[in-house]
Amino acid sequence: MLRRRLGRSGLTVPVIGLGTMMFGEKTDREEARRIVDRALEAGVDLIDTADVYAGGESERMLGEILQGRRQRVILASKGGRPTELGEGLSRRYLFLAVEASLRRLRTDWIDLYQVHYWDPSTPLEETLEALDALVRQGKIRYAGVSNWAAWQLALGLGRAEARGWSRPVAVQARYNLAYRDAEAELLPLCAREGIGLLAYSPLAGGVLTGKYLEGVPEGSRGWQNPAWQERRLTPRAQAAARAVREAAGRLGWTPGQVALAWLLEHEEVSSALVGPRTLAQWEEALAAAERRLPEAELAALSATLAT
Ligand SMILES: NC(=O)c1ccc[n+]([C@@H]2O[C@H](COP(=O)([O-])OP(=O)(O)OC[C@H]3O[C@@H](n4cnc5c(N)ncnc54)[C@H](OP(=O)(O)O)[C@@H]3O)[C@@H](O)[C@H]2O)c1
Repeated sequence: MLRRRLGRSGLTVPVIGLGTMMFGEKTDREEARRIVDRALEAGVDLIDTADVYAGGESERMLGEILQGRRQRVILASKGGRPTELGEGLSRRYLFLAVEASLRRLRTDWIDLYQVHYWDPSTPLEETLEALDALVRQGKIRYAGVSNWAAWQLALGLGRAEARGWSRPVAVQARYNLAYRDAEAELLPLCAREGIGLLAYSPLAGGVLTGKYLEGVPEGSRGWQNPAWQERRLTPRAQAAARAVREAAGRLGWTPGQVALAWLLEHEEVSSALVGPRTLAQWEEALAAAERRLPEAELAALSATLAT
């Protein structure tokens, strides 16, 4: 499995990471275990979760599944979104949230702890100082952020550096062929400042596999979910799905593999966090890790779907 440096941290991560948002939601314990086993066998040691996934069940399942092999994994989690303990990025709440995640994950440390969103009601310095304290306490190894705009991250990096606090090493952002907002400001910032980009929803939640081009398949994420359909099945996303499917036909790959390979051509992307529901979906994603898109396909895709 190819690896890339996570920004300018000392950590390297596999180009495909395992997102576990479906664990405990639509993926049961047995399938989750098979997916994790296969990940480790294939060299994918980056596993991403969050305290809010399936109401804590994703972390709980991982805690159980990783018993006895915790040290083999770069475990990433997130906090700040509403849980039964509260919400936000205050020092008080972050300390509570980290302790709760550690308990569910049955571990003493989290390798990458990401604040899940930007909290406008908490002073930025309080959040950064709390993350630094958690690093110093050894409860988290690195801090990261998620869903921060480029200006928010730039501000955070500047403040952390000025105060001598550990700076965030990575940002999680939605980035895929259908949603390229990150290209305008976030990617250049990551390249300039040595921040790792962890691209989430690399298949646009499944849309880029082309499965919604002829309707909504039963049992899929969009099935009987009009709100999801309205948000995700936009004309732009479907146009991207069509272009990907055409490229896949020419290459003899699956559309999902084309979408992942396109993403990995961007060197700011340290890892694409795929969120498989089943082992079969996971196998398909793993096979994309070593593929390089031919120049002509890359140019055609990027041009058809310009930002
Ligand atoms: N920081 C954040 O705010 C944030 C937000 C979202 C996600 N994330 C992270 O990123 C990870 C991935 O996000 P995501 O789940 O949205 O990513 P994704 O990889 O774009 O979408 C995954 C979904 O696509 C469908 N799919 C995958 N492979 C397929 C295939 N070969 N054929 C057909 N359908 C396929 C499956 O849905 P169905 O089969 O059920 O239709 C699957 O659950 C999450 O697990 C989480 O770790 C973070």
